[in-house]
Amino acid sequence: MKQITHSFDYQVFDSVHELQSADGELLEKAKNAIAGSYAPYSRYHVGAAVKLANGEIITGSNQENMSFPAGLCAERVAVFAASSNFPGVPVASIAISAISDEFEVCEPVPPCGMCRQAIVEYEMKYNNKIRIILGGHSGKVFVFQGMSSLLPLAFHEEGLTK
Ligand code: THU
Repeated sequence: MKQITHSFDYQVFDSVHELQSADGELLEKAKNAIAGSYAPYSRYHVGAAVKLANGEIITGSNQENMSFPAGLCAERVAVFAASSNFPGVPVASIAISAISDEFEVCEPVPPCGMCRQAIVEYEMKYNNKIRIILGGHSGKVFVFQGMSSLLPLAFHEEGLTK
C-alpha cells in the first residue's frame, strides 16, 4: 500500500481591487454576463467569462429549464461557446461570479464537478493550464493556476481505450 497526497496552491485576494488588472477585467465581464442568466427556479444567477489565447473574450450565464437537468451552468455555456466559435484556440483563463435573488453572494463561486471536468478537457487538449478566477458578488476572490488542481484524477482520454 502506498499513501498518496494531492495538494494545491491558490491565491486569496481580499477584494476585486487587489487583483492584477487582467483578472479584475475578466471578473467584471463575468459579472456583466449575469444579466443574461435565466434562473427562475434557483434564483441564483451565474456569469462566466472565458479569455482565449488570442485575446477574445466569450461570456456565458446559467440557463435553467423547467426540466431541471436540461439546464446548463454558466461555465459550460461559456467554454462551449468559446470552443464552437474559436475552434483550435486555447483557453487562457476563466472568471466566474454570481448573485442571488435571496441573499448576498459574498463567497467565491466554486464551479460544479461537471464544469470542472468540462474545463479540464480544454486544459488537456491544449496542454495549457487555465487560470481560474472565482469571485462572488462581493468579498474575497480566489485565483487558481490550472483547473486540474481542482479536479485531481480527472477522467482523461486514455480512460477510453485499453
Ligand atoms: N451554477 C452555475 O451556473 N455554475 C456553477 O458553478 C454552479 C451552479 C448554476 C446552475 C443552476 O442554474 C444554479 O447555478 C443553481 O445551482
